[in-house]
Amino acid sequence: MKKADPASDNPAANTRKVFVKTYGCQMNVYDSQRMADALARDGFVETSTPDDADMVLLNTCHIREKAAEKVYSEIGRLRQLRARRQKAGADLMIGVAGCVAQAEGREIVVRAPAVDFVIGPTTYHRLPDVVARARRGEKVVETEFAVEDKFEHLPEQQKRQVRSRGVTAFLTVQEGCDKFCTFCVVPYTRGAEVSRPVAQIVEEARRLVDAGVREITLLGQNVNAWHGEAQDGRQWGLGELLHELARIDGLARLRYTTSHPRDMDDALIAAHRDLDMLMPYLHLPVQAGSDRVLKAMNRKHTGDDYRRLVDRIRKARPDIALSGDFIVGFPGETDADFEDTMRIVRDVSYAQAFSFKYSPRPGTPGATMDGHVEETVKSERLQRLQALLGEQQAAFMKSLEGQEIAVLLEKPGRDAGQLVGRSPWLQPVICDETVGKIGDSVTVRIERASANSLISSEAANRRRAA
Ligand code: SAH
Ligand code: SF4
Ligand code: F3S
Repeated sequence: MKKADPASDNPAANTRKVFVKTYGCQMNVYDSQRMADALARDGFVETSTPDDADMVLLNTCHIREKAAEKVYSEIGRLRQLRARRQKAGADLMIGVAGCVAQAEGREIVVRAPAVDFVIGPTTYHRLPDVVARARRGEKVVETEFAVEDKFEHLPEQQKRQVRSRGVTAFLTVQEGCDKFCTFCVVPYTRGAEVSRPVAQIVEEARRLVDAGVREITLLGQNVNAWHGEAQDGRQWGLGELLHELARIDGLARLRYTTSHPRDMDDALIAAHRDLDMLMPYLHLPVQAGSDRVLKAMNRKHTGDDYRRLVDRIRKARPDIALSGDFIVGFPGETDADFEDTMRIVRDVSYAQAFSFKYSPRPGTPGATMDGHVEETVKSERLQRLQALLGEQQAAFMKSLEGQEIAVLLEKPGRDAGQLVGRSPWLQPVICDETVGKIGDSVTVRIERASANSLISSEAANRRRAA
């Protein structure tokens, strides 16, 4: 019997290649992997360049204007690639996923007709169907928020097949956000907060560990808003979930990101005290230091609330390092407001930070507020803030020199005889291969810190000997 689509009947004989390009946050990294896994069942293998791909899938970010604009330049380049392909009698399918897909929907195929399909983050479980329809020549735009729960509707097979890509892995436990910070598109692009059920999370974590993963980072746009029901019917928050995951044999480290200060409850703070394998590193964005600006941002906490919270967390886990996100030049931010941001940074002291100029996003309340700050003022403030944050980061790195720290070995290093792992605080650590093998958790002495990485004594010795 002859079928219309031989490729899907015999994938081995006719493999197609997909190139997935990921922008934005770790959730997109996770989603890209899951989408690649889903496409693998349709006979696609992943490739690392668009040049030999049959399909390019852009997993996009809408958080700031520049992020969104990058997508259209990329589509422009792909359109040319596709034209060259078509001249040679071949083709290239172009798909747009992620937060730009969700925010702009049909606009994308209007502005960039080369795009074959657009799929929003709450509907990824429909990807195989979307691709099939696009292959039949339909322009598919799938961005209605799914009424069904995306997590509940993962095909059985997809739930089971967790392709591991190394020693560390992301695991999404929560998606969406109900916080509606006035600068942020995420509640509009990712929809309302949804928590994955405990059993599903534990199962996926087990599979990851069986596949060789030793460190899991739980992901959520607002990960500490995760809540679920235990087997015995008790209500759990992220703290309890972490305890449950810590029982998995073979798992060495747990992390979670990104958290909102308002959802740091007692159980989660206690987990930092009680669980050694919960790494002493916490990304806890404050965004700004001025109470007036925090209020306008709808963060629903003050600068002092945040300071007190940090004190409690540090009491529970004294070696914890904090990282943060900051926005400068939010509408109405005065020089004095900005000084409050500098002050909170000095008070808290961050090991790592991400700071941005406010970027008005269409459809968010911030975009239409009064008092937009001039670009040059934003730039000056950002420069000053980044200088301070840079000093703090350098001081933190320096403080590790001479210390013995735990490293989870992840991959071969750049030079022969090296292995690279991560410290508890996420910095890459260059180790000597004699300390252990990939997947091992080892203790090494730090000889030197550079801007972004640490070098162990043994590795430094080998370098000197070479
Ligand atoms: N869910 C995360 C935030 C994701 S966005 C959280 O609540 O922390 C990552 C960071 O981008 C934010 O923390 C914020 O600092 C920054 N950001 C978000 N919207 C922005 C905008 N419109 N302009 C500039 N920076 C923005
Ligand atoms: Fe955006 Fe605020 Fe939600 Fe974070 S908490 S995703 S910054 S709305
Ligand atoms: Fe960007 Fe969407 Fe993540 S806007 S930061 S990809 S949730």
